[in-house]
Amino acid sequence: MSSHVIDAPDSGRKPHTLVSLRQMHARKEPISMLTAYDSSFGRLADLAGIDTILVGDSLGMVMQGHSSTVPVTVEQMCYHVTCVTRGNKAAWLVGDLPFGSYHESIEQAIRSSVQLMQAGAQMVKLEGGGWTAEVIHALTQRGIPVCAHLGLTPQSVHAIGGYRIQGKDDQGAQVLMAQAREVADAGAAMLVMELMPSAVAARVSASIPDVITIGIGAGQGVSGQVLVMHDMLGVTVGKLPRFVRNFMQGQPDVLSAFRAYHAAVKDGSFPDEAQHGY
Ligand code: KIV
Repeated sequence: MSSHVIDAPDSGRKPHTLVSLRQMHARKEPISMLTAYDSSFGRLADLAGIDTILVGDSLGMVMQGHSSTVPVTVEQMCYHVTCVTRGNKAAWLVGDLPFGSYHESIEQAIRSSVQLMQAGAQMVKLEGGGWTAEVIHALTQRGIPVCAHLGLTPQSVHAIGGYRIQGKDDQGAQVLMAQAREVADAGAAMLVMELMPSAVAARVSASIPDVITIGIGAGQGVSGQVLVMHDMLGVTVGKLPRFVRNFMQGQPDVLSAFRAYHAAVKDGSFPDEAQHGY
């Protein structure tokens, strides 16, 4: 039975650390990030050379079929993080703190983060600016690396009023600049910037040079790129946002599609501003 393969290949690469990622950022080598939610896809992402895997709460939509990420729980996140750790050996593993798991108090945020880290995450990600600075500070002080997430923050979809481009006018761009400064000062080592004009993302990224910035629908002026696996494999049904490219097209298998994505991030051919930019 093929599911009983015992000689499955190993990527053979040295596991990434925050230090190796910071070195890549310093030498301006683009960083590839991809979401994964289980052991098999975690293994393929690792074999493809993907630098960082995000076990995103997007699993609420692509795995569980919800219309937003809001229903996802810490326990569900921990389950998927653990699954991915069994397949992945070398990619840096980021786990999402789901909605409601860091909103009540610093104590709650620490408890939720400890659960994710004990499940196998090496860094936790949380959404939003302003009030999150205090949480980020408390977590980083306790040895928990944090990735912030600004721009379109899907956990706030009901407050934002839909999946809309952020920072389009001058005031919006100023808010993003201020929030980025706050999360950087609070100790975030990484920042996901979602759905904003390329020029704004580039300005924000340049203003916090010590932070690794990962864009999704944020153009080229960032340290790396992330896509949701189901989107870039063409699994997601319906109209996809403009920033997505289907990497499965022309590829014989998922591993090749992951490799094509990794290569396109590295050589700067993804995202293509004309096709995927705002
Ligand atoms: O949950 C997720 O997959 C994410 C990405 C969209 C960055 O946060």
